Amino acid sequence: MATPEATPSKAYPGLIGTDMLAVDGLITARLSSGVPLVGQVAQHIILAGGKRLRPVLLLLMAGALGYKGADHHKLAAVIEFIHTATLLHDDVVDDSNLRRGRPTANAMFGNPASVLVGDFLYSRAFQMMVECQDIRILDTVAEATNVIAEGEVLQLMNMHDASLDTQAYLRVIRSKTAKLFEASTRLPAILTKADPALETACAHFGQSLGTAFQVIDDVLDYDGDAAVMGKNLGDDLREGKATLPLIIAMQRGNAAQCALIKHAIEQGEVEALHDIAQIVRETGAMQITREAASAEAQVALNQLNGLPESDHKRALQDIAEQLLTRQS
Ligand code: IPE
Ligand code: IPE
Ligand code: MG
Ligand code: MG
Repeated sequence: MATPEATPSKAYPGLIGTDMLAVDGLITARLSSGVPLVGQVAQHIILAGGKRLRPVLLLLMAGALGYKGADHHKLAAVIEFIHTATLLHDDVVDDSNLRRGRPTANAMFGNPASVLVGDFLYSRAFQMMVECQDIRILDTVAEATNVIAEGEVLQLMNMHDASLDTQAYLRVIRSKTAKLFEASTRLPAILTKADPALETACAHFGQSLGTAFQVIDDVLDYDGDAAVMGKNLGDDLREGKATLPLIIAMQRGNAAQCALIKHAIEQGEVEALHDIAQIVRETGAMQITREAASAEAQVALNQLNGLPESDHKRALQDIAEQLLTRQS
């Protein structure tokens, strides 16, 4: 596992350290439920940590926009609850057994408890949002959760399809992952009543950053270290997911290499993981996929041009650059 100090939530203590403490306090307080299993499952995953990247982005963007109120703490907690709900559901769907360096909630408590507590977190997030009394905030997060669900369903439909192209892959990741990043960086613009062009730039920053983040996540499934990532390698292959490293490797590989990858995607065979990781490297697909993430991170960086210079803005730029070399 990465040390907590290496995670974004601890990375900018001078800038958002007190904000993050407030967010963590809200997360703990708002997990409360009279039903013990709700707390057990929710705490199992939430207290395991995670990078808290989306709350960090929301707080940094709020700082970059000069926000002075306190609703950003609540919204950062809301976004982390929604993220956690998607992880609870995602680990059931993906049949994953390791998350944040621990057995997944589904491995510990079973699929029904994971699904239902995921629903609890979703609905708790919406209760908290209503407290902000701003229909545009509700609209943004309602749309994000809806699009995330669509992305996960779309990915389900694409399983074991070795003919998937880059465009279809991008459609999935822009929905399942980037949409929540987009909401995280749009919400501060709504809170500060930024003009429409600036709000759009903030949202696009999150959208591109989230896309780059997921592309790197898909690289790490072939090129990472489970002990550092806190989740298993090869889950994508086992699920028959044609992610960008495989799509590009099939475009560049010879007939035998393509046949091996196609067979693994169609059968969901993880036995060939080592050989396929080798092909992804040999064909240059790993490098090209990383370059695609880098190009998307640059699109994100360009969106920040309209923001005044500040430490918060520089931290957002750091995150866009550092995600390309992340190991967890
Ligand atoms: C995991 O997100 C799900 C993806 C979008 C790849 P994170 O990598 O941000 O997960 P945690 O919160 O740090 O565990
Ligand atoms: C990430 O899905 C997106 C959501 C959780 C909605 P993945 O299945 O690609 O992410 P990991 O690898 O399980 O974290
Ligand atoms: Mg998964
Ligand atoms: Mg998944």
